[in-house]
Amino acid sequence: MSKVNLDWANIGFNYHKTDKRYVAHYKDGKWDKGELVDDAVLHLSECAEVFQYCQQCFEGLKARRTKNGDIAVFRPDMNAKRMHDAAIRLEMPPFPEDQFIDAVKQVIKANLDWLPPYGTGASLYLRPFMIGTDPIIGVSSANEFEFRIFCTPVGPYYKGGAKPISLLVSDFDRSAPHGTGNIKAGLNYAMSLYDHTLCKAQGFDENMYLDPATRTYVDETGGSNFIFITKDNEVVTPLSDSILPSITRRSCMYVAEHYLGLKTTQRKVRFDELKDFAECGVCGTAAVISPVGRVVNHGEELIFPSGMEHPGPITEKLLNTLSGIQECEIEAPEGWILKVEE
Ligand code: PLP
Ligand code: COI
Repeated sequence: MSKVNLDWANIGFNYHKTDKRYVAHYKDGKWDKGELVDDAVLHLSECAEVFQYCQQCFEGLKARRTKNGDIAVFRPDMNAKRMHDAAIRLEMPPFPEDQFIDAVKQVIKANLDWLPPYGTGASLYLRPFMIGTDPIIGVSSANEFEFRIFCTPVGPYYKGGAKPISLLVSDFDRSAPHGTGNIKAGLNYAMSLYDHTLCKAQGFDENMYLDPATRTYVDETGGSNFIFITKDNEVVTPLSDSILPSITRRSCMYVAEHYLGLKTTQRKVRFDELKDFAECGVCGTAAVISPVGRVVNHGEELIFPSGMEHPGPITEKLLNTLSGIQECEIEAPEGWILKVEE
């Protein structure tokens, strides 16, 4: 039984300082073996690479308490692999993928009091990240790096839970053509903060970004990929070089095809064909699958036929099946769930 006294069902998506975090350092061409530490504060040079030139990448994954008391982590190997790819793109030394998995297990086991109980809708969100730490003043890569994983209990990313969200089409781009939109680098998110504030101030939940080269096709939101459902129940997801290869989206497409028997397609999606879709959703680790009810572009409003009250029927089925797999109530495809022994 957890010693932490939180109102688990209403914690929202916020940071809580938990007991332990994992830290490893890269120096003289190699990663050390890493350890759990108590200190949640970093002590770095004012000229550390990360503060000057933003050499940083990160990940996000969730651990859940299941009905029968197990601890299930959803596809951590995919996060380890994606972080490897981001490190290569950002001239950082990839963190060994087996050490990543070991660190994930250590962080969960060291913070069991913070693992939300089954049935609360909350989970333990793990945030691995890597930064360049040595003082660098001329533009070049760092020589020393820190890899860290902290965790925090979280509830639903959007306040309304399964209530459809509203999106604003952004006039700004979060990534450049041939840029870094396809990796999980903090700099992409810095790029989105101005537009995010604008969209929030107008009462929207999130921005919809179009492809930065032509602004014709749908890319993603600031923190999730898209799925669209056609009137014939086909699940369509945008193909783009400038979006993050979402683990949730790839899992969702698999679930659609192999569990629900639906046709799935990944292709470029023109913004002007949105009016032809029956349902829309955004998907990501934080967002899971959140239904989208409304998209507004320069005052022109589109409401999907599924409306603003409830998720569309296919979006709901996808959400229930994927959540069932993540919570181990539906059998997962092989290798999707890592069980952590206490
Ligand atoms: N796109 C962006 C920009 C994100 O930040 C995220 C969140 O991780 C996603 C998509 C969804 O990716 P995943 O499902 O791997 O969490
Ligand atoms: C995640 O879903 O893990 C992310 O990093 C997205 C962010 C908006 C919280």
